Amino acid sequence: MPSYPQTICPSACLEDNHSLGFQHQQESGILVRFQGQVYAYLNRCPHRHKALSNGPNFLDDDGLFLQCEHHKAIFSIASGTCITGPCIHQQLTSIAVAEQEGDILLLGWPRQTNL
Ligand code: FES
Repeated sequence: MPSYPQTICPSACLEDNHSLGFQHQQESGILVRFQGQVYAYLNRCPHRHKALSNGPNFLDDDGLFLQCEHHKAIFSIASGTCITGPCIHQQLTSIAVAEQEGDILLLGWPRQTNL
């Protein structure tokens, strides 16, 4: 069993309105900084359980939403809710993260219940 917290990257690696992918235990996550706040989700679309993208960018052209590259589902960055697309109202799976002393920390990993 992994222990938490774990450092994902320095805070400086994630500029505002940018995203990046990261790996944890052979799974893929997405980090996004939006309006200064860091959010993290599993890199798995609720539509067909595929990765939204292989990165490095997971945002739409305007940088305001997460977007799945397969069928163009659009997700709120703050809530992970699909607001338009084939999985409307479904959720990305949230990952607990925090910023502390100049690092972005992984606080845990979600249990897989929707596969
Ligand atoms: S797999 Fe993401 S929108 Fe279809």
